[in-house]
This record gives sequence, C-alpha cells and structure tokens, in this order.
Amino acid sequence: MNILLTGGAGYIGSHNYVALLEAGYQPVILDNFANSHPEVLKRLERITGQPATCERGDVRDRPFVEAVLRRHEIGAVLHFAGLKAVGESVREPLAYYENNVAGTVTLCQAMAAAGVFRLVFSSSATVYGEHNPVPYREDQPTGEPTSPYGKSKLMVEQLLQDLQRSDPRWAIAVLRYFNPVGAHESGLIGEDPNGIPNNLLPYVSQVAVGKLKELAVFGDDYPTPDGTGRRDYIHVVDLADGHLKALQALETQAGLRTWNLGTGIGYSVLDIVRAFEQASGRAVPYRIAPRRPGDLAEYWADASKAQAELGWQASRGLDRMMLDTWRWQSGNPDGYR
Ligand code: NAD
Ligand code: WQD
Repeated sequence: MNILLTGGAGYIGSHNYVALLEAGYQPVILDNFANSHPEVLKRLERITGQPATCERGDVRDRPFVEAVLRRHEIGAVLHFAGLKAVGESVREPLAYYENNVAGTVTLCQAMAAAGVFRLVFSSSATVYGEHNPVPYREDQPTGEPTSPYGKSKLMVEQLLQDLQRSDPRWAIAVLRYFNPVGAHESGLIGEDPNGIPNNLLPYVSQVAVGKLKELAVFGDDYPTPDGTGRRDYIHVVDLADGHLKALQALETQAGLRTWNLGTGIGYSVLDIVRAFEQASGRAVPYRIAPRRPGDLAEYWADASKAQAELGWQASRGLDRMMLDTWRWQSGNPDGYR
C-alpha cells in the first residue's frame, strides 16, 4: 500500500519513512521544508538503498494535496506536518492555527475528495492539560492546554471526532506522543532543530558536542524526587513502530481510536544529564535556572491501552535513547546543513 507522510522530511516523519519501507509499504513524502532540509532525502536513500519519493508542497494547498493523493494512489495518510514550538506558538498563534488546524481541515477535504479515509494523526500528551492525575490514560477527559500549540492539537482531535461521526468511512488513529528522543541507529537521520533548541535532548547533546556552553535546568524545586521535571521519553524508532501498528489496526476497523505512545516511565532532567554523560563520555555542565513558564512538574503515560489493543510496547530503554542521540549529534554536529 502507498502511504502519504505529510511532514515526512521532519524528525518523526523521516523515522516513520524507514519503518514503513522495512514493513513493505511504499511511503511518499509531502513536505514544504519549513522545518526540515532536503538532505534528509539523500540520507533516507542511503539507509534504505531505494530512491525516496517526495512531493514538495504544502498541506494547506488543497488542489496540490488532492493531486498527490490521486497520482500516487495513496491508501492511508500519516499526518505529521505542522509547527511544534510551544514558545513560538504564544508569539504567533495564527501561524499555528493555520498550519496545524486549517492544514488538517484542508488535508481531510482533499482526502475525502480523493476517496482516502485512513488517517493517523500526530497528537501530543499536551492535550491532557494541567490537572489530570498521572499516569495519563486515554479515557481521562482532555484538559485545557496552556499554549496555542497545545490547543491546536486538541482542536484537531475534536474536529477529527466530528468528522468521523459524520461519515463512518473514516478510520482514524489519534496518537498522543510523550517526549520523542533518539535517532535511527545508522546515525544518518535525527532531530535537527533550527537555532537554539527548545527541547531538552537537543540542548543536552549540543552542550556535550561543545556547541553550547551549559544546560539551564528549568527548576529544581518541583515536587519530584530530585526536584527537577520528570517526563516520559520515548525512542523515535519505537514511536515509528507504534505508527505501523496503528496503521494495521485501521486496515481492519473504521472509527476513531486514541492511543498514548509512551514508555510509562518518568525520568528527571538530572537523570537525563547523567545518562547522556554516560553514553557520550562527555561532561554536560549545567546550572539551575528558574522554572520555565507553562512547564508541568511531571507526567508520563499509562501505555497499557496500546499494548492491549495494538500489541505495541516500547522496547528501547534510556541508555539506547542517549546512545543513538549521541551517535547522530556527534556525527552531524551541524545537523543536515
Ligand atoms: P518536525 O518539525 O521535525 O517535522 C514536521 C515537518 O512538517 C517538517 O518537515 C516541516 O517542514 C513540515 N511542515 C510544517 N508545516 C507544513 C505544511 N504546512 N505543509 C507541509 N509540510 C509542513 O516535527 P516532528 O518533531 O517530526 O513532529 C511531527 C509531528 O508530531 C508534528 O505534528 C508535531 O506537532 C507532533 N509532535 C511532536 C512531538 C515532539 O516532541 N517532536 C511531540 C508530540 C507531537
Ligand atoms: C523536558 C524537560 C523542562 C529544556 C514539549 C512540548 C510537548 C511535546 C514535547 C510536541 C522539562 C526541562 C528543557 C532545557 C530544561 N511536543 N528542560 N532545560 O516541555 O516536556 O514537552 O515537547 O508536542 O507538547 O511541550 O519537553 O524537552 O522542552 O522539556 O531543564 O533547556 O526538560 O523543564 O522538565 P516538554 P522539553
């Protein structure tokens, strides 16, 4: 089956590309390269030994998306395309609503017109909001995400529910990612943020490689065992396996279903610093800084629903996440550029 990966040149999409090809699917990338680099296509060709198919364009361009769906006889769409920087979304909310919400509306319209009704959507643990008890379970009510980014993910979840109720042909998987980290074991593809990284792992790895001086640990007075924030870090290749399982579930059953993709384990910022030092053999100097506005103390997934219904479970532990991040970072200190 031919699968369209919107945002397939990005961090998570590119790892899904490799997993899909290995599983016998034919992935087609659609990306506007707003937050990725065409070099990733050459890297994908080196990993897979096959030419990569990519359509350069925008999910907000309905005629273009519809033409791509028809031309490649697409059977299902994995929808990664969107903007993801929480702080930027506060400064530029309209860009987030336009790319993430309007982009998904346009994509779904193009899919319906082309007769494609299978969709996997990249959602986020941020939809649980601030007040849910941990571990987060899919049957908990969603909360009120604090950022426009988080709200855009919740809005898309809600519009997809309405869409599926309106037309039972739709088979939709909503996947709530926790904190994706790591890289493909080849060291050829990985996360390549523009400018100073916002997220912990890219920051830590750039400190270790010498590009940044020291990590600012945002708060050491949280009600957690060592006072620093705790998160559920998940290896990006495990995440890609979860997409494969969700895609297979859509092939046999319509409806909208939601799954957490996390490990069920929370690690603190200082756990990450120590594990990264161990994996890289480099020091990661840090200083304690004030809390970052909007951050929660701790959360992790209850990952049992995906295990029971999809037979999926993350298998790569913290050491592997750190080793693979380091292999990518040390081999590509300037990312794809
Ligand atoms: P990424 O920025 O690396 O990848 C997104 C890709 O989409 C990029 O290649 C970008 O160029 C492309 N893109 C953006 N807007 C587009 C548009 N309008 N038309 C076509 N292409 C467009 O991000 P990622 O980390 O790979 O995240 C993928 C998805 O997963 C996003 O929807 C993100 O919100 C979601 N997600 C990510 C995380 C995370 O921590 N990385 C966590 C939860 C959810
Ligand atoms: C992790 C921990 C920080 C950077 C974000 C989005 C979420 C999802 C994943 C997309 C926290 C601490 C971080 C630094 C630090 N993305 N930290 N110093 O905030 O859990 O989640 O990315 O959907 O929606 O909100 O990830 O990697 O930014 O932070 O101390 O320089 O590391 O305070 O405890 P977060 P993160």
